[in-house]
Amino acid sequence: MERTYLMIKPDAVQRGLIGEIICRFEQKGFKLVAMKFIRLTKEMAEKHYGEHADKPFFAGLVEYITSGPVVAMAWEGKDVIAVSREMMGATNPSKAAPGTIRGTFAVDIGRNVIHGSDSPASAEKELAIYFEEADFVEWNRTVESWIV
Ligand code: PPS
Repeated sequence: MERTYLMIKPDAVQRGLIGEIICRFEQKGFKLVAMKFIRLTKEMAEKHYGEHADKPFFAGLVEYITSGPVVAMAWEGKDVIAVSREMMGATNPSKAAPGTIRGTFAVDIGRNVIHGSDSPASAEKELAIYFEEADFVEWNRTVESWIV
């Protein structure tokens, strides 16, 4: 089953949106398989966003993502990488469709509430930054037999 890395960013944690965001992925039918409430170190942030190190927004992005706690999560499900990106909406919230997470809760690209892996390769890389094999919980969601 496909797995992705989703992260509720510091702005969403401060705004009390953790429950609302998790609720959307639960109700869609995806399965939570690992979760940590953590504050990223500068090193973790630079590893996660390393491919953007030469971008003008990089320093601000690292400052933002390390400014407070985040919810680091692994979710499983059919096409979870692409579908969760659709549910999140465009990276720039001012272009995100109404009803999506960013379209509903954000206006600024520098405070865009949530991160989600954009490909199987980045999911694998990002999950390895935040989780060890023992962190993943094996369990059955009975709802899966109704939504497959
Ligand atoms: S790019 O240039 O197209 O490769 O970048 P993009 O994929 O749009 O964004 C990469 C991540 O950087 C975040 N980002 C920003 N953060 C702060 N300020 C500004 N101006 C900014 N622009 C882009 C963007 O949200 C992406 O992070 P994630 O966590 O994937 O949303």
